[in-house]
Amino acid sequence: MIAGIILAAGRGTRIKSTTNNKVTIPFLNKPMILYGVEFLSQVASPVVVVVGAFADSVREVLKNYDVIFAQQTDQLGTAHAVAAGLEELDGIADGGSLVLVGYGDHMMFYTIDTANDLISYHKTHQAAIALVTTKVPDPTGYGRIIRNASGHVEAIVEEKDAAADQKQIREINAGLYCFNYSFLKDNINKIEKSPVTGEYYLTDLVAIANNQGKKVAGLEVEFKNVGIGINRPEELAESQKIYLQTKSNSS
Ligand code: UD1
Ligand code: MG
Repeated sequence: MIAGIILAAGRGTRIKSTTNNKVTIPFLNKPMILYGVEFLSQVASPVVVVVGAFADSVREVLKNYDVIFAQQTDQLGTAHAVAAGLEELDGIADGGSLVLVGYGDHMMFYTIDTANDLISYHKTHQAAIALVTTKVPDPTGYGRIIRNASGHVEAIVEEKDAAADQKQIREINAGLYCFNYSFLKDNINKIEKSPVTGEYYLTDLVAIANNQGKKVAGLEVEFKNVGIGINRPEELAESQKIYLQTKSNSS
């Protein structure tokens, strides 16, 4: 089976949400989270949505959608949110299952082809993790992709933890992953808090997989099929602009 988890529990501090979760903000007249749910539902079942901050606003927007809600009580980071989502898959997923994980604030641009390519990539590389990357002119704010000599992804370094030379890397983590369920389940609780932010980063699983001799395959996708995530108000405007440009050019 292929299950899906979408993270939508964060507090939206940078976009200064005070009444509703940032994933419910309209992106071209449609709540942002709907893009992710509609996208992932094409390939994954069940789709688990992790809610926490302003949870009711997310539940309301998704009331007519076939999703399972998971509750993340404290917002301790993306790995902690995935751990909450995984609890809903207990007894449903098995050792051979795959889990697609995406971030509710950055799933507007994906196409079904990207999801299928990622799943195939995971299988052909016999990877523990396959993840989508893209190259951007300005990588500020994103996790940077560190590849090894054979081209596999060795680590993802978050902006706040990156050294000056790592900050120069323009290949970024788009935030769509295909995990082997057993790998995810066995390792999600091994992640340690970032000493810088005190959060548990999902991206740390990349280094954990490497330490266990497992492969992490990075599928580089064209920027137009990844777009930009929405953390700050300016990015909402910018992302919608890019979306309109790229989608009108490709249709
Ligand atoms: C994240 C990635 C980064 C990637 C970028 C792509 C991590 C640590 N970093 O950074 O590598 O380049 O996305 O856009 O994963 N959330 C929860 N619970 C929490 C924290 C967050 O559910 O405790 C949710 C948020 O609601 C959001 C998503 O997870 O939808 C991502 O969190 P966000 O804070 O936006 O991560 P970024 O800094 O954008
Ligand atoms: Mg984000």
